[in-house]
Amino acid sequence: MHLLRKKVLIAGANGLLGQQLIKVFRDDYEVHALSLQPERRLPDGNFQYHQGDIADRQKLRDLVQALVPNFIMNAAAFTDVDGSETQRELCWKINVTGVENLVYAAQKVHARLIHVSTDYVFDGRNGPFREDDRPNPLGFYARSKLAGENVLINSEANCAIARTMVLYGAGYEIRPNFVTWLIEQLRNGKSVRIVDDQFGNPTLASELAVALRILAESGHKGVYHISGSEVIDRYHFAVKIAEVFGLDASLIHPIKTSDLKQASPRPLRSGFDISKAVTELNISMSDVVGGVQKFKAELAVI
Ligand SMILES: NC(=O)c1ccc[n+]([C@@H]2O[C@H](COP(=O)([O-])OP(=O)(O)OC[C@H]3O[C@@H](n4cnc5c(N)ncnc54)[C@H](OP(=O)(O)O)[C@@H]3O)[C@@H](O)[C@H]2O)c1
Repeated sequence: MHLLRKKVLIAGANGLLGQQLIKVFRDDYEVHALSLQPERRLPDGNFQYHQGDIADRQKLRDLVQALVPNFIMNAAAFTDVDGSETQRELCWKINVTGVENLVYAAQKVHARLIHVSTDYVFDGRNGPFREDDRPNPLGFYARSKLAGENVLINSEANCAIARTMVLYGAGYEIRPNFVTWLIEQLRNGKSVRIVDDQFGNPTLASELAVALRILAESGHKGVYHISGSEVIDRYHFAVKIAEVFGLDASLIHPIKTSDLKQASPRPLRSGFDISKAVTELNISMSDVVGGVQKFKAELAVI
């Protein structure tokens, strides 16, 4: 008997976080997944897939008005950080106009909207950052994500913003993330150069998805920093991943961010203080090794 099940619409459902959100909700919610591609990527059923574009205001409104979800979870974004410098129009259309459209549609049906943002809204001069620290985005992707946050903050919508960072996990046909890429390289005996001057909290996507459901159900508004509990630089994170997976850490060589010549600047001393989320939402997030061990266990059952 499913008549009383609450409904959730997950935007960006084909991505790393989107797939984890489907898994977190699908057992006891009516789950509707929205993403750009014609086909769903998560193969197993128990959710309805809708092809759609959050940048298309009318079609999005029509879908939301037809479904009347209790919650809308926004994991859809233009996430190519370096590509955002050359594809500015598309990046803005998804990360800002798309968010405006979600707010508009959510308000039409009084749905609660949970939006995912990033530590890149900060400049990385003196992390770890708290929710009330002043943003100062460095690149175009970062500016678009901050503008997306401001759309929500300046609206009357029932909403909350969850900032996260260094997301990793498994998924079907997703973009490689730092952890999956590193494991692949080391398994193939390839040496890798990893920056030791970028700090952040690695975040297991499945843990973030659980926390986002709790945030949705809590009714809390405002901004929350939700990430793994521990700050680490990328090089030492890579070494810990190698240790947990029994791979050869001597293939990992430290370099500096300036050696990479990336198109978009990165915040260096980033990281989150997650105490507000831990206290107000009563969530628990893994430290670095705990998260990677949990990920290894997840891979064993896929
Ligand atoms: N990955 C990280 O390290 C990280 C760090 C901090 C914050 N975040 C934030 O976390 C959220 C989720 O990131 P992620 O890593 O899961 O991203 P992802 O794997 O790149 O997935 C994003 C998904 O959004 C969908 N999408 C893109 N444009 C869309 C549109 N116009 N309409 C509908 N769907 C659209 C894509 O759909 P199709 O696949 O169907 O094309 C894609 O599957 C984003 O807000 C991102 O900014 C990520």
